[in-house]
Amino acid sequence: MTEFVKIVEVGPRDGLQNEKTPLTLADRKNLILDLMQTGLSSIEVGSCVSAKWVPQMADSDVLFASLPQNPNIQFSLLTPNSKGFESALAVGCKEVAVFTAASESFTRKNINCSIEESLEKFSDVMRQAKAHNIRVRGYVSCMVDCPYEGAIDPKQVAKVTQQLLDMGCYEVSLGETIGTATPDRVQKVWDACLAQVDAKVLAGHFHNTYGMAIANIYQSLLQGIRVFDSSIAGLGGCPYAKGASGNVSTEDLYYLLSKMGFETGVRLEPLMQASRNISNILQRDNPSHYANAYWQKVCA
Ligand code: HMG
Ligand code: MG
Repeated sequence: MTEFVKIVEVGPRDGLQNEKTPLTLADRKNLILDLMQTGLSSIEVGSCVSAKWVPQMADSDVLFASLPQNPNIQFSLLTPNSKGFESALAVGCKEVAVFTAASESFTRKNINCSIEESLEKFSDVMRQAKAHNIRVRGYVSCMVDCPYEGAIDPKQVAKVTQQLLDMGCYEVSLGETIGTATPDRVQKVWDACLAQVDAKVLAGHFHNTYGMAIANIYQSLLQGIRVFDSSIAGLGGCPYAKGASGNVSTEDLYYLLSKMGFETGVRLEPLMQASRNISNILQRDNPSHYANAYWQKVCA
């Protein structure tokens, strides 16, 4: 039987949170409508965070409420605290994500508190989520390097991951936030985590600044990881990690997984159309190797 690998599409959130000029709500919605045609089963719609901190994600709850629901697609919103959670709850969101890091400095810059304080805020979110039957995903940024502290101890990554799982997150996605990692270092982080928890509750989130994301995903596959985050057209970055580029593109991830014989549920043509549409809106070359090769062949 073909093994399934889940792709979590983070383009509308991680992708667009870093755009110099925020997209209109209509453009953000059109991107999601395009992605809904692709067979992707998990889409991060946006973030319920302070619009003063991340103006690009303003009105993510309004955007969420405007989307047609589809029982085969799980939409989610990032919620760093109870205020964010309440906005998500009010629009009927059934999955939220809490996010912290394995680095104190990054956590402070990103969400203005220590790692321990972030976990305290999340325990309120978890309590409310449980009461309303809402799934909570966790993120741990800086799985390998931090833009402020440099190399991070894999044991620290495993510790924060375990804390999020103990609180009730159904899955924890480890963020390779600045895209500096190489497979040998990624292997050590998974080794530390897998010594404590099952691969089934872990996901990989690789930024592609140094072009290593696909190599890092291959390494992760070898170690049993079967959920990966990616962004259509390789969009993305983090406003609090200067110089970090986008996530691995969904198109390149799809190519790797399908050529290796994994099932993803994703359909090629609508994926390429979604990728072309958002690149046109942003008037930007697509960094995805596969998307470029695909269109060259189609147009030849
Ligand atoms: P704070 O200033 O410490 O919060 O910010 P506060 O509780 O003191 O409140 C200050 C103001 O923010 C108040 O408004 C609150 O109402 C408001 P004011 O009275 O000044 O008008 N506020 C909120 N507004 C909307 N939604 C909320 C909310 N909470 C408070 N949820 C806060 C703390 C977390 C809000 C802030 O630091 C923030 O918004 N940070 C943005 C973090 C973010 O979105 N980062 C990017 C996503 S993470 C990422 O990209 C990494 C990832 O991709 C993985 C990887 O690659 O590593 C996931
Ligand atoms: Mg990210």
